[in-house]
Amino acid sequence: MKNSPVIFIKELSEQDRPFMLNHFLGLSPSDRRLRFGAALPDEAVSRYVQRIDFTRDTVFGVYESTYNLVGVGHLAFLDPVSLPALEGERTDRVAEFGVSVSAPMRRKNVGTKLFDRAAIHCRNHHVNTLYIHCLASNKPMLCIAEKAGMKIHKDHGEVDGYLHLPGPDSESFRREHAEEKAASLDYALNGRMRNAVRWLRNLVSPEKVVKSSNHPENPPSY
Ligand SMILES: CC(C)(COP(=O)(O)OP(=O)(O)OC[C@H]1O[C@@H](n2cnc3c(N)ncnc32)[C@H](O)[C@@H]1OP(=O)(O)O)[C@@H](O)C(=O)NCCC(=O)NCCS
Repeated sequence: MKNSPVIFIKELSEQDRPFMLNHFLGLSPSDRRLRFGAALPDEAVSRYVQRIDFTRDTVFGVYESTYNLVGVGHLAFLDPVSLPALEGERTDRVAEFGVSVSAPMRRKNVGTKLFDRAAIHCRNHHVNTLYIHCLASNKPMLCIAEKAGMKIHKDHGEVDGYLHLPGPDSESFRREHAEEKAASLDYALNGRMRNAVRWLRNLVSPEKVVKSSNHPENPPSY
C-alpha cells in the first residue's frame, strides 16, 4: 500500500521561479528526457524556467517544505492547430499538461493530484480538452492518463492523450477554491513555523544562527 502524505497543490507565480529551477535541476537526465522530450542541459532547463509566462500559462506545485518544491505541473494553453490532427478529437480549447515529481516523492500520488488539479482548473476556465504527450514507455504517466479516462493514441513509441472535460459547475469552482485556500494556508503556516523556530534559536544562542546562502532571505509569502 502507498504511504501517501496529505498533498496540497498551489498555483505558482513569479516568486516561485527560483524553487521551480531547483526542482527541474534536480531531475536526472533520463527524467528530463521524459519531461521535456530531451535530456536538456542545465542552461536549457534554466531558459525553460525563465520563459514560463505566468500571465498565459498556469503552473501548479507541491511544496514539501518552505523551500522544497517536489512536484510541478505546467498547463500551457495551446493553439489547437499545433496539435496532431486526430480523427474524432475535439480540440477547440486545449491545454497541454507536463508534470514532474522529485524522485524521492514518487509513487505517493503527487503526480495524480497535480493532474486532477490541472483538469479541474481547465474545466473552470472553459478549456474542454486536456492534452498530454509522452513516451509510450512512460508507465507512471500512462497510468495517470488511463486512470483519468484519457483517450490514448500510440504511435511510433509516443503517446498523445486527450481528456474531454465537461464545463464548470458550482462543485468544480468550490473544489478548486478550497484546494487553493488549503495549500496557501499550509504554505503560510510552514513559513511561520520556520521563522518561529529561527527566532527561538536566535534567542537561545544567537551565534549559532546561520543564514542559508542557498535560499532567498524571504520565501514566497501567500
Ligand atoms: C510521471 C510522474 C510525474 C509520476 O509521478 P508520481 O507522483 O510518482 O505519480 P503517482 O504516485 O500519482 O502514480 C501514478 C500511478 O503510476 C503508477 N506508477 C508510478 N510509478 C510507476 C512505475 N515505475 N511503473 C509502473 N507504474 C508506476 C502508480 O502506482 C500510480 O498508479 P495507482 O494510482 O494505480 O497506484 C513521475 O514519475 C515523474 O516525474 N517522471 C519524470 C517526468 C515525466 O515522466 N513526466 C511525464 C511526462 S510530461
